[in-house]
Amino acid sequence: MNPVDISIPHPSLPPLTSVLPAEPLLLMGAGPVPVPAEVARAGGMVINHLGDSMNMVVRHIKELTRYAFQTRDEHIFGVSGPASAAMEMAVGNLLWPGRRVLVLKNGWFSGRFAEMARGVGAEVSTLEVPEGNPVTAEMVEARLQQERFDVVTMVQGETSCGVWTRDLESIVALARRHGALTVVDAVCTLTTMPLQKDQWGIDVVFTGSQKGLSSLPGVSLIAFSAAAWAVTESRPGPRPHWCLDAVRAEGFWGRHEYHYTAPVPGLLALHEALRLIGEETLERRFERHRQSSLALQTGIEAMGLRLATPADFRLDAVVAIEVPAGIDDARARRYMSSMFKVEIAGAFGLNIVRIGQMGEQCRSPNLFRVLHALGVAMNNEGARLDLSAGMGAMEAHLARWAERVP
Ligand SMILES: Cc1ncc(COP(=O)(O)O)c(C=O)c1O
Repeated sequence: MNPVDISIPHPSLPPLTSVLPAEPLLLMGAGPVPVPAEVARAGGMVINHLGDSMNMVVRHIKELTRYAFQTRDEHIFGVSGPASAAMEMAVGNLLWPGRRVLVLKNGWFSGRFAEMARGVGAEVSTLEVPEGNPVTAEMVEARLQQERFDVVTMVQGETSCGVWTRDLESIVALARRHGALTVVDAVCTLTTMPLQKDQWGIDVVFTGSQKGLSSLPGVSLIAFSAAAWAVTESRPGPRPHWCLDAVRAEGFWGRHEYHYTAPVPGLLALHEALRLIGEETLERRFERHRQSSLALQTGIEAMGLRLATPADFRLDAVVAIEVPAGIDDARARRYMSSMFKVEIAGAFGLNIVRIGQMGEQCRSPNLFRVLHALGVAMNNEGARLDLSAGMGAMEAHLARWAERVP
C-alpha cells in the first residue's frame, strides 16, 4: 500500500488549558452568564441521546419548562441552537406566503422577527418605536383596528436597550381579541421576572439557555399552545425546515424517536439549570433579580452615572447606562476586562454600556466587583465618579434586603 500523502501539515497549537485564563472572566454582560457548578458538570457529559436516561431527561425538561413558562402546553421543544433558532422555529412554523404578521419593534432583537418573517415569504408589517422606548397597548390597539394579522410578535424585554414591554399582557389580550396568534421572545427575561404563558394567553413563547436560566449557550426552549399547534400542523405544501420543523421535532420531544442527534450535554446542563430554578422557586428568583438589579441601579446612580431607561419601563435583567460625554467606553471595558477580569457589554449603535442581571449574575460579590471595576475604568477615562458613594449605596440596599429575607 502506498503511504498516504498528507500534504497539508498539522498546525501545532497549544491546548486551550494553556491559553485560557486560569480564572475565567466574570461575565456581567448581556449573556452568556456564569453557570452554577451543577450545570457545568452536567454539560461535560455525553449519554446516548435515544436511551432510557435521555428519555427521562427529556420528560423532566418538559415538566420543568412548564413551570418556568407557567404553562400546561403539550408541545414543548428544546432546540439545538441559540435563542434565534427558537425564534426561527416560531416564525417558520406559523408563517408562510400569504400569512400576515405584525412585528412590534423597539430594538435590535424585536426587529429580527421581521427579517425572519420576510425570509419565509410572509407579509410583514412593523409597528416601530424609537429604540429605548416600549411599544404600548394603545399603539397596538390602534394598529389592530386598521388591519388584520395572523400573528403578532413581541419581546418581553429588549436586551439591546434595556426596555421592558410593560403592556405585554394587554397586548397579548388585544391580539387574541383580533384573532391573531402571539409570539413572545422571553430570551433575556425568563425567570428574571413574571411571565404567565397560559394565564396571559400567549401562544408561543421561547427563550435561550444562556441568560436568565444560567445554562450553557447553544440550546433554546419553545412552547406552542394548542391553537398555535393547529396552525403549525395545517401548513400547506412541503415543510421547508428539517431541524426547525416543529412537527418533526415532536418525534423526539413527544415520542422519543430520532429526529436529529440531540445536543446531549446542552440538554443535561439545561435540566440542571431548570431543576435549580424549581428548587429556588420562581417567587424567590424574581425577588432576587429585582433586589439585585435595584441595588446595582442605586449604586450606579449614586456613583454619578445616569441610567438610560426610565424607571417605568426599565428591565431588571439588563441595566443600560449612559456613557458620559467624552468617554471611550470600549477602552473602559477593555480595562475592566484586563485589570479586574470583569466583562460588561457595549451596545449596537447606542451610546450606552449594559450590565446583565440574569441568573448567576445576581449575586452580591459579582455586584461589588462589577460596580467597582466600572467606576475605576470610567474614571481612568476622565469621568469624575464617586466610587465610595456608589459602593456604599449599593451595599445599603443589599443590607436592607438581607434584613427582610427570612
Ligand atoms: C431579547 C433577545 N432575543 C433574541 C436574542 C438572540 O439570542 P441568541 O444570540 O441566543 O440567538 C437575544 C440575544 O441576546 C435577546 O437578548
